Amino acid sequence: MAWLVTGGAGYIGAHVVRAFREQGIDVVVVDDLSSGHAEFVPSEVPFYRGTILDAELLARIFAENPVSGVVHVAGFKYAGVSVQRPLHTYEQNVTATAVLLGAMQEAGVEAIVFSSSAAVYGTPDVDIVTETTPKSPESPYGESKLIGEWLLRDQGVATGLRHTSLRYFNVVGSGEPGLRDTSPHNLFPLVFDALVEGRTPRINGDDYPTPDGTCVRDYIHVADLATSHVAAAKRLDAGEPIEPVYNLGSGDGVSVGQIMSTVAEVTGIRFTPEVGPRRVGDPARIVASGELAARDLDWTMRHTLDDMVRSAWEARQAAS
Ligand SMILES: NC(=O)c1ccc[n+]([C@@H]2O[C@H](COP(=O)([O-])OP(=O)(O)OC[C@H]3O[C@@H](n4cnc5c(N)ncnc54)[C@H](O)[C@@H]3O)[C@@H](O)[C@H]2O)c1
Repeated sequence: MAWLVTGGAGYIGAHVVRAFREQGIDVVVVDDLSSGHAEFVPSEVPFYRGTILDAELLARIFAENPVSGVVHVAGFKYAGVSVQRPLHTYEQNVTATAVLLGAMQEAGVEAIVFSSSAAVYGTPDVDIVTETTPKSPESPYGESKLIGEWLLRDQGVATGLRHTSLRYFNVVGSGEPGLRDTSPHNLFPLVFDALVEGRTPRINGDDYPTPDGTCVRDYIHVADLATSHVAAAKRLDAGEPIEPVYNLGSGDGVSVGQIMSTVAEVTGIRFTPEVGPRRVGDPARIVASGELAARDLDWTMRHTLDDMVRSAWEARQAAS
């Protein structure tokens, strides 16, 4: 049997593909390359280039491969841009998920792991977010991820679909130098691009109510994240109990200022970041407990902050 990874040519999906293969589980990839890279997909993995909005393509994939479950990673992930492009965001993250679930039902594929996000919580007023912290998304992106979770839940009630949604916090690092985050909006690529191009990296606001005044986030290594997807898939395949949602967070907060210092140490490039104004919608602090995932999904921090910065920098350098 195999698992289908939607978005398997993207940053996280490519790591998920490798984690499955390392554990001897076959995978199939579908990706429209809207933000992914064909070269991220290993040549031995069956790769279907196309959109998951195409129900016929999905039917063909399920007919041609013995798929027992789907890791649904494909999506439009730019929260800031989603405010300007709500319809696109809903189409890619909600309609596409509905089409995928329909195709799975049609083909009798009964298990799914969904890439959700910390964005479902908006600006939480607790120090440590748990799965029961109230959901209050602040962008069409966060809303679309919450609706995605509801689609899985409702399809589970209606058809017995086995499912779980993994709410990722700030995913960084690289599992191998050929794979990296190429997002034009995420902190690590922005900082590295600035350094490579000889510009000074920028901090958006240093007057937050945090120890050094910069935003605090919960950074997790992409390879650790990928491992938990395989654990979730195995539980689903075995029909073992599984929660509907898990936070993949470390329980530890790191400030943007601390990231900048670590980047300077790792790269050996000395710089003093520019400080700009706050970005609208950036919470001061968001940090989550990963205790539930640690209990069920082999979730643990195998990588330090230094590893995260170093591996991401090596991948950035390998690409330039
Ligand atoms: N990177 C993060 O920190 C983070 C945090 C929380 C949640 N997520 C979620 O994780 C998922 C993966 O994120 P990523 O960082 O790897 O982003 P990414 O943009 O690198 O990967 C998304 C992949 O999905 C593909 N894709 C998009 N729409 C598609 C469609 N309609 N049909 C087929 N393929 C399509 C893209 O080409 C790309 O390869 C996304 O759903 C994102 O919302 C990411």
